[in-house]
Amino acid sequence: MSLQDTKETRKLIMDTAGKIITCRAAIAWAANSLSIEKVQVEPPKAGEVRIKMTSSGICSSDDHLLKGLSPVNFPLIPGHEGAGIVESIGKGVRSVKPGDKVLTLPIPQCRECSSCLHPKGNFCEKRDILPSSGLMLDGTSRFTCKGEKIYHSFGTSTFSEYTVVHEIAVAKIDDAAPMDKICVISCAVPTGYGAAVHSAKVTPGSTCVIFGLGGVGLAIVMGCKASGAARIIGVDINEEKFPWARALGVTDCLNPQNLKKPVQEVVMEMTGVGVDFAFEAIGLPETMTAAWDCCHLSYGVCVIVGWAPQNSQLSLDATKVITGRTLKGVALGGYKTRDCVPQLVTDYLRNKINIGPLITHQLPFEQLHKAFELYHAGKTIRCVLLF
Ligand code: APR
Ligand code: ZN
Repeated sequence: MSLQDTKETRKLIMDTAGKIITCRAAIAWAANSLSIEKVQVEPPKAGEVRIKMTSSGICSSDDHLLKGLSPVNFPLIPGHEGAGIVESIGKGVRSVKPGDKVLTLPIPQCRECSSCLHPKGNFCEKRDILPSSGLMLDGTSRFTCKGEKIYHSFGTSTFSEYTVVHEIAVAKIDDAAPMDKICVISCAVPTGYGAAVHSAKVTPGSTCVIFGLGGVGLAIVMGCKASGAARIIGVDINEEKFPWARALGVTDCLNPQNLKKPVQEVVMEMTGVGVDFAFEAIGLPETMTAAWDCCHLSYGVCVIVGWAPQNSQLSLDATKVITGRTLKGVALGGYKTRDCVPQLVTDYLRNKINIGPLITHQLPFEQLHKAFELYHAGKTIRCVLLF
């Protein structure tokens, strides 16, 4: 059934509201063990929203969880970069109604916690990452499979035909949004574009380096370009990413594996003094240090966007911290998600941001394994799963 067809959607909403829905979802039973199963999805409780998914991107953070690189409870339903249509709402939900187009938000905005109340904070205390419980805020799950409790992930679990999400982790978006593409504005776009435009505030004429040219790295490139950066250096070990990067505005591509010196030394030589802005979008301590070492000693800004494995440590030359460089981390571009993500969708619809180049593949949900194979082979920027 086409979800663009509102009549069909409304009928389906009337048929299912208040009932348990049985549908297909991907379940990770343990690390590296993913299969598509029939699951039962409970109706939303107070403050919750049940969503019929239309599309979900595959992000490296999903892969990170699936490989067991961070502590989570299995079995779980992965996925966080999702777009869908509200099927039903729980008591007290006011910001969305059945039939609304929405994006799921891996970082919610509760508007009550210390992060949400601070003008600059966005890492909401009601999130379910770092640390992750895999449960809704009331300590229970909305999913079961073969009688067994299935955990949520990122508070979103978008690799499912239906999911239940807290209202604080749902953004209502413009009715004109194309639901087969817009999911990337739930994670890759705010994470990358926002890191450059909103967090680093890249300046016109500046020199930037980006480590990692995946979906997030290329969204950073888009943000640097939109901010008027004059030189954008892209670093990746997979040269298949270079044509995509150049098309978006990367001026110099470096493969560290083909260099005779450490990449930071090469960047220093290329720029003479170091870069104005360095971004790490891989999630490895080594590349974080390299990004820091690329920065101009007195005014360079290094922004960490990548998610490092559990218990990894970052080691910096302590004598050179005093020189004036800035090191900062940022999640989802530092945006207060419910306030800002709908605006990014509107900016896209007004041709201010172009998400097209980030989506290299679209596959039906049942081809999830093929989508992960393409991702692991380094052939995709974003592969979007269609429900
Ligand atoms: N040096 C350079 N490039 C590397 C290295 C390395 N040692 N290791 C991996 N890469 C490249 C990969 O070839 C790939 O192109 O980094 C890129 C990462 O891209 P994706 O796997 O598509 O990841 P993406 O979804 O873009 O996320 C990047 O941002 O938000 C975080 O959790 C996310 O840590 C992840 C990072
Ligand atoms: Zn909050």
